[in-house]
Amino acid sequence: MEPIKVGLLGCGTVGSGTFTVLRRNQEEIKRRAGRGIEIARIAVRNPAKALAALGDAAGTVPIGSDFEAVIDDPAIDIVAEMIGGTGIARELVLRAIANGKHVVTANKALLAVHGTEIFAAARAKGVMVAFEAAVAGGIPIIKALREGLTANRIQSIAGIINGTTNYILSEMRERGLDFATALAGAQALGYAEADPTFDVEGVDAAHKLTIMSAIAFGIPVQFDRAYIEGISKLASIDIKYAEDLGYRIKLLGITRRTERGIELRVHPTLISAKRLLASVEGAMNAVEVHGDAVGTTLYYGKGAGAEPTASAVVADLVDVTRLHTADPGHRVPHLAFQPQSLADTPVLSIEEVTSGYYLRLRVADVTGVLADITRILAEAGISIDALLQKESEQIADNGETDVIIITHDTLEKNVNAAIARIEALSTVVSNVTRLRIESLS
Ligand code: HSE
Repeated sequence: MEPIKVGLLGCGTVGSGTFTVLRRNQEEIKRRAGRGIEIARIAVRNPAKALAALGDAAGTVPIGSDFEAVIDDPAIDIVAEMIGGTGIARELVLRAIANGKHVVTANKALLAVHGTEIFAAARAKGVMVAFEAAVAGGIPIIKALREGLTANRIQSIAGIINGTTNYILSEMRERGLDFATALAGAQALGYAEADPTFDVEGVDAAHKLTIMSAIAFGIPVQFDRAYIEGISKLASIDIKYAEDLGYRIKLLGITRRTERGIELRVHPTLISAKRLLASVEGAMNAVEVHGDAVGTTLYYGKGAGAEPTASAVVADLVDVTRLHTADPGHRVPHLAFQPQSLADTPVLSIEEVTSGYYLRLRVADVTGVLADITRILAEAGISIDALLQKESEQIADNGETDVIIITHDTLEKNVNAAIARIEALSTVVSNVTRLRIESLS
């Protein structure tokens, strides 16, 4: 049988990695897919760059700069969109679908923001949109959530799903680096997005979490409802104090089913240093999924890089190759649930989320200051789990001291109200730094 023909749009890290893996493992892949998979055309903004990226293999495939020509080519069966972003990528993907092409994409932003439109268009044309590479690079988490765990009522997902920030946090903790130096290191290693604010401000992780949440709970993708807080304002002192208290700080994506709605949030989070997720260091990713039947499962691997991400892209190409002749109604639905069965369960605002909290504040070391603070917390119904008074590291002799309070689970709006009252005390000389704690239980 003739190989299935792929048109590759974009040939940067992931595109060139896909080309390399497909060529290197073509025999094995053909034995799995039932027929060969061939990148028949490539379109890129800058063909000279793509030629350089493909090296010796560059002469084996036509490379141009006309994206539409690839999408409109009747010989192309699958369009692999590796451009990224929500601008031209959206137009090209919709046009490919309109032309009856299947789409494989690594574009998490596109699906988190425009997934509802794209999946509806794909359904109307009876084509597949496959996106394993959009979440956690080489970890087959979409496959696991959508198929492997399909028996379960999924209760929660908590993941380290941005390698750049995990690398930065590891470097800050292990080597005592400041944020900017650690970020520069992550960029030099090629982990960061073109615009690293997407990484450090939690946007990239929120794109990925939004997609996983939709698949886990059978809700539409709702990136605009995600709460997003990055690590750029995280102080080294909190990493240190957290460690003293037996915690590590990770940028976690957390989505959870509760009686009141779905939690969908990305923020720096204290987790016990004893949890497996806490030992995920450097640029590695890990996703913990809790299902009612299976219990807790953990998926670990490289979340970025040319070949790890290509591993996911090629897996999707194989899936599409196997299934493209199947009746569309018999394929796995894009979001795991039948489209007419998606639920309108509300996504909770962050004020409605329940969590443990780490509060750090600097106080004048005078009689009664702790009593005032604990009284305010008690009046707000907030129970204290641990309280630590530190000698100030920055100001040694002025009588001020850092106080760290760990609370039991409580509603965020109650904590915010208590923080406002605490900050108004004349004996409290700093703003309150507030971080969330996740027990992962
Ligand atoms: N910039 C991303 C990360 C890689 O650091 O994890 C792909 O999403």
